[in-house]
Amino acid sequence: MPAPINVALPGREYDVRYSDSFADLTDVAREARAADFALIDANVDRFYGRDFRRSLPGVKFLRIAAGETSKSFISLERIANELVRGGATRQSRLFAIGGGVVGDLTGFLAGVFMRGIDFIQLPTTLLAMVDSSVGGKTAVNIKAGKNLVGVFHQPRAVIVMPRLLKTLPARELGCGLAESIKTALIADASLVHLLERQAYDHKTRDIAFLADLSAACIRIKADVVVKDEKEQSVRAFLNFGHTLAHAIEARTGYRSVLHGEAVAVGMRFAALLSRRLGHLSAEAELRIENLLKKYALPNSFADLKTAKKPGLWSNSALIKLMRADKTNQQGTIRFGTLAALGEARLPQPVSEQELLASLKEFQTLA
Ligand code: GLY
Repeated sequence: MPAPINVALPGREYDVRYSDSFADLTDVAREARAADFALIDANVDRFYGRDFRRSLPGVKFLRIAAGETSKSFISLERIANELVRGGATRQSRLFAIGGGVVGDLTGFLAGVFMRGIDFIQLPTTLLAMVDSSVGGKTAVNIKAGKNLVGVFHQPRAVIVMPRLLKTLPARELGCGLAESIKTALIADASLVHLLERQAYDHKTRDIAFLADLSAACIRIKADVVVKDEKEQSVRAFLNFGHTLAHAIEARTGYRSVLHGEAVAVGMRFAALLSRRLGHLSAEAELRIENLLKKYALPNSFADLKTAKKPGLWSNSALIKLMRADKTNQQGTIRFGTLAALGEARLPQPVSEQELLASLKEFQTLA
């Protein structure tokens, strides 16, 4: 198992620890100072609920329905009431057992419940392991958009159990691979090479490889978060590929296309834009395309598994959504690009004319 990774935020530092045994969790449960609660994804509960309950004795478990709709104010209020009824105090801790939805919801609840309590992330998807469980971004969705209401609230610990990935649905695993590729592309050329060389077999699922890959990504993320917790500068690197991805998710109602799949297409587009703006070589762009293909990730709108409604990927609709992205400033559309494989550039304004020309070229790849 990989060694622990320290997220060295002054005054709020914590470790991301690896474990291959449920029994290791019992020590965490023993540290209880008050009634502790676990919010567990309903699908994870079906597979591993008994194991988690046995290893976290005394912790009260609350089931969270799988899917984005759980990341809402309605669930937040319902769970907050259950916590109070269950005897929660300011000393209580919350365990988030699930993927990004449960992690973001639990983190936000921990950030605001009784004005802030501790929480521990137990990510069960590759995407949550490599990205969302580390760094303290928490949020719920509102009608106006995804993740629009939230707080930065760092967990007290993150415990990663790579063995849980054995039962993760293939598309979910793909989402984690997409975010891992993103992490490599923005910061680590040697990790890009490793992903290119790795003889990865989707069917057998090399858990040792996935554990090492996640640790490499978490080390990069920890470093970025320590440099820029509140996303004033380099944390924006982590949004590579996300500008178009958010528009894709909005166009498909946050349902048929998974976040990581949208990010894969968003990265392919950002690679094309990087080349068109003269930052990235055509050879590097092709390597990104091949890397996405190698890990069976979508490269174009046509690859996305969604009902093909007329006008779904219309350039004007996508540009309108990209203009509304929360990472923009003063009405401009900002795009993170790459200077090379393993080297990100900070988001820069891109003219709508260039964006339109790039989208037109991208549409021809389909
Ligand atoms: N998922 C991007 C970030 O944590 O900043």
